[in-house]
Amino acid sequence: MPPFVLPDFRPVSYSRVTLTELMIPSYANFGGKIHGGILLSLMDKVAYAAASKHAGNYCVTVSVDGVNFMQPVEVGELVSLLASVNYVGRTSLLVGIKVTAEDVRTGMVKHTNTSYFTMVAKNDAGQPTPVPGLELETRDDVRRFQEAIKRRQFQQQYREQFDNARTSLAIDDQMGLLDGERCRIIYHTD
Ligand SMILES: CC(C)(COP(=O)(O)OP(=O)(O)OC[C@H]1O[C@@H](n2cnc3c(N)ncnc32)[C@H](O)[C@@H]1OP(=O)(O)O)[C@@H](O)C(=O)NCCC(=O)NCCS
Repeated sequence: MPPFVLPDFRPVSYSRVTLTELMIPSYANFGGKIHGGILLSLMDKVAYAAASKHAGNYCVTVSVDGVNFMQPVEVGELVSLLASVNYVGRTSLLVGIKVTAEDVRTGMVKHTNTSYFTMVAKNDAGQPTPVPGLELETRDDVRRFQEAIKRRQFQQQYREQFDNARTSLAIDDQMGLLDGERCRIIYHTD
């Protein structure tokens, strides 16, 4: 059999996957709501599935963006995670994940969060390896690709600005930052 050759491009729809899981009592915290870590783990799983389908290779998670749990998820709800590749670089992919939770008794569906996982494809030697380009099939695909470019630019700017601010942070010069904050210094400062 001839060796499998990756295509130059793959459509967004090729990577679209949905993972649905019932929230069982062992997933709950002491307050009876689902642990955020359970959802993060499911998000990582579905991001991996979408990214590795597109890449035709194993992928690793590099960074996670936009994880804000604005509404609690309850035991008994059916959580669905819809993921697809929104953007590709040379070896990296941005996977968008929409998480919803359905109350099966009422059919009410709430949107709990939308997050973005950056994944990198790896070859058998564990090195980053190129991924196929992305075929944009709809206007939404184009919008998501454009947003991903902006997201990347803002992250890059943020990283650079924060690194500069951090390396220049002289503790004594920055004491004013603590004004009005809920902390107190309990070591001797002289
Ligand atoms: C991510 C990793 C592959 C980067 O390795 P590297 O030697 O710096 O490789 P490169 O510089 O070629 O970067 C590879 C890609 O990652 C992207 N990348 C690297 N760091 C990144 C970051 N912090 N955020 C977003 N993308 C990043 C690069 O932009 C590049 O993308 P591109 O090829 O599409 O342009 C490497 O750090 C790694 O393997 N990390 C561990 C990941 C892992 O194991 N995750 C599971 C957690 S247990």
